[in-house]
Amino acid sequence: MGCAVKKRIFGNWKMNGSLEANAALLQALKSGASQAACEVAVCAPAPYLSQLHSVLAGSAIAIGAQDVSAHASGAFTGEVSGAMLREFGVRYALVGHSERRQYHGESDDLVARKAQAALACGITPVVCVGETLAQREAGETDAVVRRQLAAVAHINGHCLSEIVLAYEPVWAIGTGKTATPAQAQAVHAVLRAQLLAATTSAARIPILYGGSMNAANAAELLAQPDIDGGLIGGASLKAADFLHIVACAG
Ligand code: 13P
Repeated sequence: MGCAVKKRIFGNWKMNGSLEANAALLQALKSGASQAACEVAVCAPAPYLSQLHSVLAGSAIAIGAQDVSAHASGAFTGEVSGAMLREFGVRYALVGHSERRQYHGESDDLVARKAQAALACGITPVVCVGETLAQREAGETDAVVRRQLAAVAHINGHCLSEIVLAYEPVWAIGTGKTATPAQAQAVHAVLRAQLLAATTSAARIPILYGGSMNAANAAELLAQPDIDGGLIGGASLKAADFLHIVACAG
């Protein structure tokens, strides 16, 4: 039972890009996605949000950030607040991406508070959950993703239906090893059941799949009943590949 609203295809550029490269990519996306049947967003590094804000003005492509501070303002060197992101037209912010959890020590609780801070500023948090290879091999996949989602639900219960959820198995990110459609669907169904138990508005929460989604495998993944879209890393840096995935979500 998938989400009733239209599919979402979000690009996560990670720490890639330059003013020049972005300009070319954004122009191609703007024209190529103007008639898209799905919702398209691009999550760019913070210094480029100003560029996206001007280049994407009036286009169908939404602007996303890759992180947001859990704090509103103050002595938090290097952090960027939700209010600052809003000034650049940001509609979405990734929270709890596995690269933040892994390399920056982000805990489930911090991720939950980042989601809360985003919601407080009118930014939709794209909450990322996913297991490592060791956790999958130990049979812990369901428990890990359920724990990660529970932390977010715990402090955002009243507005849980405002989030976007993304299942990104860590072993599939940037490795070329995609979860099979059946593997991904099985975890999405677990997450859907957890959402249904947590909120009466669960049906409207999109659950995106991320992890080596590309032009060749997108259609099959997006055809699964509980896969409501994709969070695309590497393939979002190539206009033709990203636009092909957008077309698959039509
Ligand atoms: P890849 O598509 O490069 O595997 O990255 C997925 C991802 O982490 C998106 O957030």
